Amino acid sequence: MNTQVAIIGAGPAGLLLGALLDKAGIENIIVERQTPEYVLGRIRAGILEQVCVDLLRDAGVGSGVDMGGTVHHEIDLVFQNKRYPIAVSQLTGGKVVTAYGQTEVTQDLMTQRTQLGLTSFYSADEVDLHDIESKSPRVSFSIDGRRQEISCAFIAGCDGFHGVSRKHIPSHLLKEFERVYPFGWIGVLADVPPVSPHAIVYANSDRGFALCSMRSMTRSRYYLQCPLTDQVSEWSDERFWDELKLRLDPELSAKLITGPSIEKSIAPLRSYVAEPMRHGQLFLAGDAAHIVPPTGAKGLNLAATDVKYLSEAITEFFKLNSSHGIDQYSARCLKRIWRAERFSWWLTSLMHRFPDTGEFGQKIQEAELDYLVKSQALSTSLAENYVGLPLDFGDQ
Ligand code: APR
Ligand code: PHB
Repeated sequence: MNTQVAIIGAGPAGLLLGALLDKAGIENIIVERQTPEYVLGRIRAGILEQVCVDLLRDAGVGSGVDMGGTVHHEIDLVFQNKRYPIAVSQLTGGKVVTAYGQTEVTQDLMTQRTQLGLTSFYSADEVDLHDIESKSPRVSFSIDGRRQEISCAFIAGCDGFHGVSRKHIPSHLLKEFERVYPFGWIGVLADVPPVSPHAIVYANSDRGFALCSMRSMTRSRYYLQCPLTDQVSEWSDERFWDELKLRLDPELSAKLITGPSIEKSIAPLRSYVAEPMRHGQLFLAGDAAHIVPPTGAKGLNLAATDVKYLSEAITEFFKLNSSHGIDQYSARCLKRIWRAERFSWWLTSLMHRFPDTGEFGQKIQEAELDYLVKSQALSTSLAENYVGLPLDFGDQ
């Protein structure tokens, strides 16, 4: 098989890249290790910056988020059992974020890809990359035991943190930066009305962090900080709801509507960046190149801007015969990535209970939160990062 771009991975990064390239008239094939059902079963953060919503519209899949998304103008911070609104929209000249699940984003992109008749291989085993330093790289894989091969001009490694693509950058050229946090998040999805439908709630409590989010007016998503050693089986629904109530302010605790969980999982928190994001004809995008802790919900948004830059660069190559975009790709992405890494690390550090800093750490966090909610300067800094820094921020 021949194509212009072979995309490894059918998560949001791979699917959105495929859609944007197709829109620009560039052929692409996606190779994914899992089944579509498995990909859709992964529950991840669902807060979209305006840039991300605009990209989904550009890719021709904006109707899902336009109809099913909930626009938020505010986030709330809870500490010392009191809740403080941060008017992110007012502080950023009218910018908003939209609550819309990553599962829904992925489903919208998958449906469109099927409707357009674009080629995707799911359940692909032993995916391998070849000759990435040459002008004609290849991707090989097996479907039902039969070996297949794609020849292409570019390979996009959109295969997440545990993918195969990044391993093809020689270790002496790849620099990795990592911080692993000493706790995880247990998340629950439940078909109950969200306790705070107009604002995502981030709670700092001396019992640990809590987060109230939503998927729709009838489906909620909640998280609690928990020890990494905890097992899902140790968290009955009842224990989860009781603990959540203890970490929120009294008004929200009283309003919380509980119900049976439809999904429950524990995830570790990590900050990670791999540099550079290009080697030869291989380009990494999304979680394949970087991970942020979910505090701030930047993961999907960063993946979206990576593939925006990559689709522009590849389009420039084929349509204008210019390598400028592909040569600048890694540096251009990394600037934005490090800003989001800083923000996600900062918000994580501010909101969680750290085992090694004890009561002193808790007091310092509360003093910073008190300063933050009372200072227009600090609230504006939080707000502009939360809604997403402009694409060309500080790049002039
Ligand atoms: N071959 C083919 N596909 C692979 C391989 C492989 N060797 N390894 C992993 N994959 C697939 C995974 O099964 C997954 O479907 O690549 C896809 C990567 O998807 P994500 O992990 O969702 O990563 P990405 O698309 O970059 O998403 C970025 O979405 O998943 C979240 O936390 C993530 O919010 C971030 C954003
Ligand atoms: C979510 O809705 O799953 C969510 C929202 C905000 C976050 C993280 C996750 O910061």
